[in-house]
Amino acid sequence: MTTLVSNIGLLVAADGERRNAALVIDDDRIAWIGESASAPAADTRVDAEGGCVIPGFVDTHSHLMFAGDRASEFEARMAGRKYEAGGIRSTVAATRAATDEELLANATRLVAEMRAQGTTTVEIKSGYGLTVEDESRALRLATQFTPETTYLGAHVVPTEFADDVAAYVELVTGAMLDACAPHARWIDVFCEVGAFDVDQARAILTAGMARGLGARMHAGQLGESAGVQLAVELDAASVDHCTFLSDVDVDALAGGKTVATLLPGVEFSTRQPYPDARRLLDSGVTVALATDCNPGSSFTSSMPFCIAVAVREMGMSPAEALHAATAGGAAALRRDDIGELAVGTRADLVILDAPSYIHLAYRPGVPLISRVFAS
Ligand code: NIG
Ligand code: FE
Repeated sequence: MTTLVSNIGLLVAADGERRNAALVIDDDRIAWIGESASAPAADTRVDAEGGCVIPGFVDTHSHLMFAGDRASEFEARMAGRKYEAGGIRSTVAATRAATDEELLANATRLVAEMRAQGTTTVEIKSGYGLTVEDESRALRLATQFTPETTYLGAHVVPTEFADDVAAYVELVTGAMLDACAPHARWIDVFCEVGAFDVDQARAILTAGMARGLGARMHAGQLGESAGVQLAVELDAASVDHCTFLSDVDVDALAGGKTVATLLPGVEFSTRQPYPDARRLLDSGVTVALATDCNPGSSFTSSMPFCIAVAVREMGMSPAEALHAATAGGAAALRRDDIGELAVGTRADLVILDAPSYIHLAYRPGVPLISRVFAS
C-alpha cells in the first residue's frame, strides 16, 4: 500500500529544506522524496495544501503510568511555593491504589493527546509504583503503548523505606530489577537532592546495564549535580533536565555521546529558570526537547508548546528547536529509523496547517497539526 503526499509547501527533509515537494510512503517507510511536479503514482494521494511537512515529534521523557491529580500543588507553586521532589510520593499513593484499567485509561488519553499534537514516538517511565509489583505492572502496561519503556524504580525513596535507603537501593537493583527488566528497554535514576545521590545512581544504573538495559538519567533539575558527569561516564543515552550545569558538566557532555534533554514544561510549571540551550549548542552538545509529561512538575503533553518555549526562552532558533524535538529525540533513544525524513526512515510525519515550522513558535498555543502519519 503506497501513499503519495503531494503539494508540500516546505518539506523538512534529512538533507535540508525543500520547497514544492512530495513524498511517497510505502507501508511503514518513506520510499521516495522529490519535486511535487515529478511525483510518481501511488495507491492513495494526500494533498498537503501547501503546508509544511516535518518529522513526527520524538518525546523521549514522560511519566504516563500514574493516577491522581496535583493541580493544587501547581496552584500553590504559582503563588510562590517551591517544587520539591517529595511531591512524587502523593502520586505514588494514588497509583498504587489504581486498577490496571484506570492506569491504562489515563495513559491512553495522554498518548492520544500527544498523537494529536504530532508526537509519533513516546518514551514512558515507571516510577510511581516503587514496589516490585507496582513497578513491573506499570512497565507491563506501558509496553502496550511503546517499545521505549524505562524502569524508574529509583524515582524517590518510598515512605516505607525512609529509614533504610540502602535497603531500597538493594531492592531496586535486585528483585525489582528482575521483575522489571523483561518489560523495559531503559533504566533511569532521579539523581537529585531529595531523591538519589551519585553513588546510589551509579549502583542502580550499572546493575541495569548488566541486565542489558540502556542508561538514562534525571540530573541537574534543582541544582548542579555530579549525575551529569556520571551519565557521560556511563555512556547513558541521555541526561534529562540539565537546568543547572557547571562548565565541567558542559565540557563532559561535549566530549561524550550522551544527549542533553531539556524539559521546558518543568521550568514553566515550577517557576524555575529555563535551561540554557544556547550554551549547550554552542559547545557542540546534542540537545533534545521533551515534555516530561507527569502530574507533578510538567503536566503538558505538547511538543509544540515545548518548542515555542525553547525558542522564546532558551536561545534556540525555530530550526534548532524542531531538530531537538525530532532528530535530537531520536539520538536520545539511540534510534536511526525515526526523527528525520529520508528514503528508508519510518513514515512518521506531520502535515502542519502552516507554511513553515517557524509557526510552531510564532503561533504559540494554536492547534497547527493538520494530519499525523505514524508507522
Ligand atoms: O521529571 N524529576 C523527577 N521526576 C519528575 C517529577 C515527577 C513528579 O513531580 O511527580 C520530573 O520532573
Ligand atoms: Fe522526569
